[in-house]
Amino acid sequence: MEHLYIFDTTLRDGEQVPGCQLNTIEKIEVALALESLGVDVIEAGFPVSSPGDFEAVVQIAKAVREPIVCGLTRAVEKDIEVAAEALKSARRARIHTGIGTSPYHIQLKLKSNPEEIIERAIHAVKYAKRFVEDVEFYAEDAGRTDNEYLARVVEAVIKAGATVVNIPDTTGYCMPYEYGAKIKYLVDHVPNIHKAILATHCHNDLGMATANSLAGVMNGARQVEVTINGIGERAGNSSLEEVVMAVRTRKDFPVITTINTPLIIQTSRMVSSLMNMPVQPNKAIVGRNAFAHSSGIHQDGVLKNRENYEIIDPVSVGVDESSIVLTARSGRAALKHHLDRIGYRYTNGNLDEVYNRFLEMADKAKQISDSDLLQLVGKDQTSGVLVSLKLLQVLAGMSTTPMATVHLMVNGVEKAATAEGNGAFDAAFKAVTMIIDEPFELDEFLIQAITRGSDDVGKVHVRIKGRNRIYYGFSADTDIVTASVKALIDALNKMTGSYDE
Ligand code: KIV
Ligand code: ZN
Repeated sequence: MEHLYIFDTTLRDGEQVPGCQLNTIEKIEVALALESLGVDVIEAGFPVSSPGDFEAVVQIAKAVREPIVCGLTRAVEKDIEVAAEALKSARRARIHTGIGTSPYHIQLKLKSNPEEIIERAIHAVKYAKRFVEDVEFYAEDAGRTDNEYLARVVEAVIKAGATVVNIPDTTGYCMPYEYGAKIKYLVDHVPNIHKAILATHCHNDLGMATANSLAGVMNGARQVEVTINGIGERAGNSSLEEVVMAVRTRKDFPVITTINTPLIIQTSRMVSSLMNMPVQPNKAIVGRNAFAHSSGIHQDGVLKNRENYEIIDPVSVGVDESSIVLTARSGRAALKHHLDRIGYRYTNGNLDEVYNRFLEMADKAKQISDSDLLQLVGKDQTSGVLVSLKLLQVLAGMSTTPMATVHLMVNGVEKAATAEGNGAFDAAFKAVTMIIDEPFELDEFLIQAITRGSDDVGKVHVRIKGRNRIYYGFSADTDIVTASVKALIDALNKMTGSYDE
């Protein structure tokens, strides 16, 4: 098995997306998460593009120790000098320089000719070599570049010292058979190809980014350029989690990665929330529904043996378990599974009656929650929902210590607490913790806006750990602190309404 280098460009190609911009502190946070995830290369930015990008590359170069830190440049001396300066503190630095090689880029963008482009490419690589040993060259729009000409470019830049040669499908135009053939052509026709690593860099305009990257790997590429959640220009880049899990799940690829896959979900959620980029629910690997089974036949199959309907163990990417979602299409097996989970043991003999009532309820509601189940099995709903929010007041803003007063109804008794925190939610969270005399831990906290605008409804998902289990809570409100506290209470009700094993 050969090593497949994972080159993450979330902070460069991903961050170019409108609305996804991060400040330097957030970029460092993402870079450290990528380091823990085990990526080989972090493309930290395009240093000449702005002082902010320059500073982010400087700080990331100082913050991470293991991955190579890479800065993007055009084939322009000034860009290369600035990138070299930004990367000075990196333990392992790489300059990523390049130029357009397709007829579109050569004639219409660069107003040049193929021979001059080769000269400029050679010069850029040699110039970058003055500053760092590790120089990657990109042939922009290689996807629409004639293979014979591309092979000449690749041979020339390797001769000039490029350690990695990137073959971007910049416009996402290629089909997998075509992109795979392009990589094979280079492997077969570039005499010095063994002196460099070939990289894929695929965009998703036709939904082929992951397929094209994998076709590249099948044909000899040993670096894939990817982003978390596939974010990136237009339809995005090839997604890290898809490529990594495809290579791991299928036996077709003669490569392995060193990605710490159980950290995939938390990295995905972090990038989604910091970059304000919700993940589509049906997104492969990291979507909310990626491991959710709702049809009765599938649920029964999964409960008998996970592998009947799952090709990836959810735990291997950081999901606690496959979720068997209760809807009107769920069968008896799924209902029994959830009733068992919340402490109600039914046998096949006495399940029918409760199943019929469940179907009646599920016809009216989209999804059945634990508290719905408690109601269904006869537990009084008001005593099932042990905690409810009576009052929430927060004091927050600049030059003031955030403070929250919370009144909760707990088993019919009103209880109040006031706490300070490092923000409105933190203070409210602490006040709730003071009232609930049971240990629990906030494990995950995700805020999303439903539409745009300051009068927006905010959706909050929380995940708490308590009673040796995980509980999810959800709420939506125009006030984000209220939504957050209600989501926390939703999770607490699931916890307090559950039963110890
Ligand atoms: O898509 C592309 O061609 C790029 C290069 C700058 C590497 O992002
Ligand atoms: Zn790109």
